[in-house]
Amino acid sequence: MIKRRKVLQYSAGILAAHSLGLRADDTASAAMKPAAITRPVPSSGERLPVMGMGTSRTFDTDRDAESLGNLTDVMRAFFSAGGSVIDSSPMYGNAESRVGDVLREMPVPAKVFAATKVWTTGRDQGIAQMEESARRMNVERFDLIAVHNLVDWQTQLDTLKSWKEAGRVRYIGITTSHGRDHEALLDIMVKEPLDFVQFSYNIEDRVAEERLLPTAQDRGIATMINRPFQRGSLFSRTRNQDLPALATELGCSSWAQFFLKFILGHPGVTCIIPATSKVSHMTENMQANFGPVPDTAQHAEMLRLFNAL
Ligand SMILES: NC(=O)c1ccc[n+]([C@@H]2O[C@H](COP(=O)([O-])OP(=O)(O)OC[C@H]3O[C@@H](n4cnc5c(N)ncnc54)[C@H](OP(=O)(O)O)[C@@H]3O)[C@@H](O)[C@H]2O)c1
Repeated sequence: MIKRRKVLQYSAGILAAHSLGLRADDTASAAMKPAAITRPVPSSGERLPVMGMGTSRTFDTDRDAESLGNLTDVMRAFFSAGGSVIDSSPMYGNAESRVGDVLREMPVPAKVFAATKVWTTGRDQGIAQMEESARRMNVERFDLIAVHNLVDWQTQLDTLKSWKEAGRVRYIGITTSHGRDHEALLDIMVKEPLDFVQFSYNIEDRVAEERLLPTAQDRGIATMINRPFQRGSLFSRTRNQDLPALATELGCSSWAQFFLKFILGHPGVTCIIPATSKVSHMTENMQANFGPVPDTAQHAEMLRLFNAL
């Protein structure tokens, strides 16, 4: 939960959809302005817009007027397309502070979902770091704190469990990326009471389809997908390549949207956190928050088309 000096409700279209009792899901379509696609957090049933925002590198800037102006515009584009989930970490340099700077100075939707991580060893160090993250991001109570890359995970998860019990954080989880520590992560997913798990999954790196996504589905753990563009390298494959007709059927007008919709085509995915420093890319990416979701056959066909490039 973000501290509310200038809290607004969702943008007019989203607010209208809510007041009419409308809720987009993978199958429903609203007759009015389309509402964001949402999926439930299994441990609570709370629905989140599927398109969130990462902050690694993109929000790690100085606190100069030009950077703050640009990041404010990026955040505004995110909110105006129904975005809510913001993922950061003390590992990302100045990113948590820049998120806080931007949120302090702009109207913030009531439903912002603030997520960070704990990335240190030792109980006291972990607690101090999480308290510092709350100050930096201007958060009263985090919606989610995850142990970053399994660092000292037993110690930090113990603290997170007690914080959740005491109402100091709503959800707890653990993260990894690009194949690192998958065995250990799977073991933790089976043994520990996690609300969220975060790992990499994209049209080029599909290791998560083998065990991570099915295990999350079996265990009722929400998934937050990092590196949806393989840190941007997917775009080198699609440069100067025309979009296939299937992209249009799925409401995609760019390869970025094609990549994001591919990820949504897996039913084990709860939300995706692409990162961008550009307003035009944020606007483009957030279009994947709406419209059709690939079915199993379309998902397979998207992969075939990508591999044929
Ligand atoms: N272990 C962990 O917990 C972990 C590990 C990795 C990542 N993460 C989280 O996941 C988030 C996402 O992963 P990531 O940042 O590594 O990689 P990513 O989202 O796959 O890729 C980001 C890159 O894609 C580019 N991009 C974004 N939208 C684009 C578009 N529409 N067209 C062309 N280029 C576009 C961005 O450049 P521009 O700025 O030019 O748009 C940026 O260079 C991170 O920010 C972080 O929050 C967590």
